[in-house]
Amino acid sequence: MYVCICKGITEQQIRSSVAQGASTMRDLYRQLEVGSQCGKCVCTARQVLSSSQIEC
Ligand code: FES
Repeated sequence: MYVCICKGITEQQIRSSVAQGASTMRDLYRQLEVGSQCGKCVCTARQVLSSSQIEC
């Protein structure tokens, strides 16, 4: 599923970034540029980020 239409970023790409160490929206912004244009995806991207993080 596409999370960020402006940049063509999928949920899977966000999950891959988290698996490689991204832990904040800033990390996702730096790596994928999620939310760098219209910003409408930020809320959904944040939800994908938190659901991808392993709690321990
Ligand atoms: Fe992500 Fe527009 S949908 S910046």
